Formats: sequence, C-alpha cells, structure tokens
Amino acid sequence: MRPLIQSLEESKIREVANEAMGRSDVLAFWFGESDEVTPEFIRRAAVESLERGETFYTHNLGLPELRQSIANEMSRRHGPTQIGVDRIAVTSGGVNALMIASQALISPGDEVVVVTPMWPNLCAQALIMGAKLTPVPLVPVGGSWELNMESLLGALKPTVRILILNSPNNPTGWTLTRHEQMTILEHCREVGIWVLADEVYENLYFEKTMNGCAPSFLDIGQADDSLIVVHSFSKSFLMTGWRLGWMVAPAKILSSIGKLIEFNTSCASLFTQRAGVVALERASEVTPRVVSHLKFCRDTLCNGLKEIQGIELSAPRGGMYAFFRMNGHSSSLAVSKKLVQQVGLGIAPGEAFSEESSEWFRWCFASKDPMRLTQGLQRLEKWLNVESKK
Ligand SMILES: Cc1ncc(COP(=O)(O)O)c(C=O)c1O
Repeated sequence: MRPLIQSLEESKIREVANEAMGRSDVLAFWFGESDEVTPEFIRRAAVESLERGETFYTHNLGLPELRQSIANEMSRRHGPTQIGVDRIAVTSGGVNALMIASQALISPGDEVVVVTPMWPNLCAQALIMGAKLTPVPLVPVGGSWELNMESLLGALKPTVRILILNSPNNPTGWTLTRHEQMTILEHCREVGIWVLADEVYENLYFEKTMNGCAPSFLDIGQADDSLIVVHSFSKSFLMTGWRLGWMVAPAKILSSIGKLIEFNTSCASLFTQRAGVVALERASEVTPRVVSHLKFCRDTLCNGLKEIQGIELSAPRGGMYAFFRMNGHSSSLAVSKKLVQQVGLGIAPGEAFSEESSEWFRWCFASKDPMRLTQGLQRLEKWLNVESKK
C-alpha cells in the first residue's frame, strides 16, 4: 500500500455515525442528503430503460442526448454565451467528476490552494494525486464565514497549479459573490492557475438572483479559460444514490477527460443517464419545490438554534447545512459522540472539515418532515440543559 494512502484520515463523520450502530432511536442529520426519495417519474425512466434491455456501456463522455440536455441547461442558467456540448462530460456522481479533474490536473508535488473549511473529499482527492496543499481559511465573522481576498491572492503564486473551492459551501453555507469570483478568475488567468469549482449546490441557493442559482464561475468564464466546474444530480434532484454528475471543462481537454473516465468507470450507467435526461426535462417539477422546502427547513432549524442561548450561527445563503458553535463545547468530535450516545441526536463534527472549524458543528436540514428538525432541537436543548448543571 502506498504510505500516502495509508495516511489518509478516516471520515470523522463516519466515526460519529458508528456510535449509532444498531440504534433506531437516533435522529440523524450528519450526512449531506435529503431523506426524501427520488421523484417517481425519474425512477420510472430508469425502470423503463432496464425493461428495454438497456444494460450496455455508453460513450465514455456520456449519452449524446444527456450531454446535449446538460449543455442546454447550463446555457440556460449561465448564458448568454452558449455552453457547447463539446465541454460536457457525464460522470458517476459529482465526486467522480472531482476526482477525474484532480487526476487530469495534478502531478505529484504540485501546489494546490484550497479554501477551507471544505468537504473533506476535495482535499483527500488532491492528496491522493500527491499534491502539496495550502489551505486558505475562511474567517468566521459573527457566525457567518468570509473570505479574506488578500490572503487568497497572496497564496495564489505562480508556482501554484490549481485553486480548489466549493461555493455554495459545504459545510459553512458561505457563497462567493460575483465580485469575488471575478477577482479570483482574473488573478488566476494572469498567473496561470487552474480553477476547480465545485458548484454542486448552485441550485440550492436562498437569495434572489436572475437565474435562481448562486453566482457561478460559468457566468463569467470564457470557453477556453483554465476552469473546470463540477455539478451533480444528487442534491437538487434528490438523486444521491444514483451516482450521476457532470463537469464543464474547456473543449480542448475533453478527450483526455474521456480517457480518464474510461480508466475509472468507463461510463456512468446507461439507465441512470436515461433518468438524468428525464430529470433535466422536468426539472421545473422538482428543483423549485426542493429549494422552497429546504428554505423552510433552513428557517425552522436556524431560528430554533438562534433561540438557544450560547449558540452562534448565521443562516446559510446556500447549501443544506447549518454550521454553528456552542459556547463551552469546543471539542466537536467528542461532543458529537456524546450527543448521539446521550440524547440520540446525530450531527457532524466541524473537525471533519478543517482545523479552524474544530469547534463547530454541521447539521443537515434537508429533512422531508421538518418536525424531525424540531425534535432534534429539543434533544439538543435538553442535552445543553443537563450539561449546564454539571
Ligand atoms: C461539496 C460537495 N461536492 C460534491 C459532492 C458530491 O456529490 P455526489 O457525488 O453525490 O454528486 C458533495 C456531496 O455531499 C458535496 O458536499
């Protein structure tokens, strides 16, 4: 085994979830997915594909009709410039697109700048490729997280190969502004740095915008920019278990991306891709409902948390997570384990995401029944009450 692989950290979220093994009374909010099943018409498309006997490989880059639908959808969201089908690769989930992007761009020893806290897989993938990571931490200001642009631009030196960032951000809900994106993209163009932007939560955005999405690098990027943007069906179509995503990349690297897909998975499964075509065709029946329900869940949870004394948070602008800290309870891994053991509440420790967020906690509010959130809040309050008397 490569020592580097052996040294990869195990997921601290799993470590907490393992505490609940064999228990049915735990309210779990630790993973990043809704507990609502995929809409019936999307599931039906996959079943019909299988019934037609579509059990074969597809083109490495995906079914032509799915790539075309994705190109149309990306152009609709991020026009007026058309995003061509020659820039789209279908992958087996967003995480697979991110790994392939890392494989395509990172050589051992390359310097990679990451904006943290961030979903741990993104850093792990770069490390697997042998990158030297330079984290640029976001700064918590009154419960919300902000980017110090001076620190970021200072870190983006000519020796850096890629900048990896995720906005809207898991776990903090921090979202890049248009102005910040323009500053970053212009700097990276000038210095010659690739931008790998994880925008899987772009639809799950709660502020008013023209296209209903969070600001995207695709709104401002040129077709030949050194920019890869990663997307997924998981979050906005309730399709986490399907493993279907895509990337938008410069057309000139698409054949190399196709080779990497061949050597990783060969292609996303055909019946899943058929479901993806239908999901995009009927997106207006799914995503707006998912987003408005999520907004209700966000408000339920965040308002409830704000009422608890000693909790610091600000409502996230995007994503599906509340990120908060609790006065006097700074060891997030140990506290998360106690919450499971003692009151059956499952949340993720900030320690899973970066050093600077080790006192914070992540609570996924994508819950079909918002009553679960209210019950979770009651359990948290009960635990804090008992603790305060110790
Ligand atoms: C920030 C971020 N990027 C990418 C993904 C990957 O999503 P998927 O592989 O399900 O498409 C996730 C999943 O939680 C995520 O939080």
